[in-house]
Amino acid sequence: MSLIGLLKGNGSNGFGYNSTAEQVTAELDLSGKTYLLTGCNSGIGHETARVLGLRGARVIAAARSLDKATAACADFGPNAVPVACELSEPSSVRAAVTRVRELGHTLDGILCNAGIMALPQRTLQHGYEAQFFTNHVGHFILVTGLIDLLAADGRVVMTSSSAHTGTYVEGIRINDLDASGGYSAWGAYGQSKLANILFANHLSTKLKPGQTANAVHPGVIRTNLGRHMNVVVRSLFPVFSPIFMKSVPQGAATQTLVATQTSVANQTGQYWADCNATRGSAFTRDAALAEKLWTKTEQIVEGLS
Ligand SMILES: NC(=O)c1ccc[n+]([C@@H]2O[C@H](COP(=O)([O-])OP(=O)(O)OC[C@H]3O[C@@H](n4cnc5c(N)ncnc54)[C@H](OP(=O)(O)O)[C@@H]3O)[C@@H](O)[C@H]2O)c1
Repeated sequence: MSLIGLLKGNGSNGFGYNSTAEQVTAELDLSGKTYLLTGCNSGIGHETARVLGLRGARVIAAARSLDKATAACADFGPNAVPVACELSEPSSVRAAVTRVRELGHTLDGILCNAGIMALPQRTLQHGYEAQFFTNHVGHFILVTGLIDLLAADGRVVMTSSSAHTGTYVEGIRINDLDASGGYSAWGAYGQSKLANILFANHLSTKLKPGQTANAVHPGVIRTNLGRHMNVVVRSLFPVFSPIFMKSVPQGAATQTLVATQTSVANQTGQYWADCNATRGSAFTRDAALAEKLWTKTEQIVEGLS
């Protein structure tokens, strides 16, 4: 347990900072349920998929390549199905949509967990800043392509971050999504993570009664996510992780809880951290911005080859 963990208690639902994905699902039998999860081969996505499989669920496990997804599936129980989904390539995401549809399962949950963080240089993907494109647009194509497969009580969970508070002052730079007007590694990451929350919020207004869409901050966890960070900063992780970082099982808990726990089945359009609903930045409550982003993303997707 980290030093911060020692100071944190549980929230009103009995879970909190220190809870693990296994603990938040301890009472659950997920047999017969199917969850699609992106980023299954690493970090908290791997742990989330492992625990979903442990509780009996079928995990449709997406990774950037079929080889990575297939290798990871060995850890997700006998029913896991590997799917290739490179989120920065629309053709790959569309192929993943086709593949998931061919499988013919109703989806009890779609967990948009994959992500990249803080690319040091401005990088473009199909003409858009790469973090925005990968973390937001890729998942937009995936979720909107599969939404009709969502179960009557199905849940969409977007893995966001408290780093959404570090977005640009405009929140979302709707008219500068290629960052040609200026680039900041953390501003762009924060913008993409704010986009994850706004997507969940707006989606929650479109879903059928009983279906939910939420966004989570998983905590600060030592994973491969820091691969683009400065090598000096990364070398300090082993020093700081016992003080302020969650373990991977703790980091997987919030999204696993929001995707599965019966006690939160009716909660939608919310932002979660430490296994409890909480408040994000003021931008996260801007319904007009969420709608604007949705419309803009539809236009982006329409324009993609
Ligand atoms: N770790 C933290 O402290 C922290 C804090 C707040 C939020 N989060 C969020 O948590 C989520 C999971 O991150 P993590 O910490 O578990 O990091 P991680 O270990 O780096 O896992 C990220 C996953 O996303 C996949 N991914 C990256 N780019 C992709 C692409 N273009 N297409 C498809 N998949 C792609 C990675 O695949 P490859 O391995 O093949 O690259 C990997 O499976 C991310 O959305 C992140 O923003 C993490």
